Amino acid sequence: MAKEKILVIGGSGQIGVELTLALRKIYGNANVIASDLREENDLLKGSGPYVSMDVMNKEMLHVQVIRQNITQIYLLAAILSATGEKNPGLAWHLNMQGLLNVLDIAKEEKLQKVYWPSSIAVFGPTSPKKDCPQQTIIEPITVYGISKYAGEFWCNYFHHRFGVDVRSIRYPGLISYKSAPGGGTTDYAIEIFHEALENKHYKCFLKEDTYLPMMYMPDAIKATIELMEAPANKISIRTSYNVSGISFSPKEIASEIKKHVPEFTIGYSPDYRQPIADSWPQSIDDSVARNDWGWKHEYDLDRMTADMFENLK
Ligand code: NAD
Ligand code: SER
Repeated sequence: MAKEKILVIGGSGQIGVELTLALRKIYGNANVIASDLREENDLLKGSGPYVSMDVMNKEMLHVQVIRQNITQIYLLAAILSATGEKNPGLAWHLNMQGLLNVLDIAKEEKLQKVYWPSSIAVFGPTSPKKDCPQQTIIEPITVYGISKYAGEFWCNYFHHRFGVDVRSIRYPGLISYKSAPGGGTTDYAIEIFHEALENKHYKCFLKEDTYLPMMYMPDAIKATIELMEAPANKISIRTSYNVSGISFSPKEIASEIKKHVPEFTIGYSPDYRQPIADSWPQSIDDSVARNDWGWKHEYDLDRMTADMFENLK
């Protein structure tokens, strides 16, 4: 394997921590630099280099890339769907300018690869609800979804126009236990585990029958690394790949949780996140990713729930 030097931007976030640790296992601790606005991260401490940096500061980012001989960037810094609706201008600014800074530097420094995640949030109320295909009507209603859709086409443009090898996945809602989620509509599916253990009760901000596409973090990390390691000639999608894991509703995950915490009860108090969830598909067709680079998820609801409890306890 060629010598890689990887920069993870947004390395202190829900995905960033786990992705940094997984990349360090593959490429060696010293070759994966985590960076984030946050000063430090306890979960990453002692496992490799960490730089506090703002992705909006393009000059500083450029200097780091040159100084550290970076060959690949994973850009994870973003504002997610629920937080984005509270400050649309800021979400648009960070989600767009952060990506453009990285793509420009990748082009200029001829980086080998860039990774940037999109989301199921690109889809909107006019997209098919079930088994939403790779190519379909895409009319997002959140600023987050709009920024992701625009970002997908910037990636496509930089690839075709300038030859930047940028790859992307439309993650579903991600469920994990290591690092806290950062303000998404799917975060209920993480909060519910913590509340089940601490209070035996959860008040859910979505209705009981709100089905959404979800995925357990080990599958998301596996998808990311498999996509990035795939030969370039297997990558037919240069906007962003649909990938699918599990689809469930709050009612379904609650009954799965009851198998582990029999006293657990759930109540429902839908808020501003309900219309966001209602605008997204309930399940995703990821046959293109499966055919192109062999994607296959491993965790179903049952296995994920058992693993979450084992680790949270
Ligand atoms: P997160 O909010 O947990 O982490 C984002 C990190 O970026 C945070 O640590 C934050 O401090 C950092 N950050 C914010 N502004 C920054 C800046 N200006 N410069 C440097 N760092 C900055 O988010 P996440 O859940 O880890 O998501 C990572 C990526 O994956 C995002 O692009 C997100 O849209 C995408 N995604 C996440 C999910 C999910 O369910 N978690 C689903 C779909 C897509
Ligand atoms: N989990 C993310 C969110 O809810 C989807 O991109 O914002």
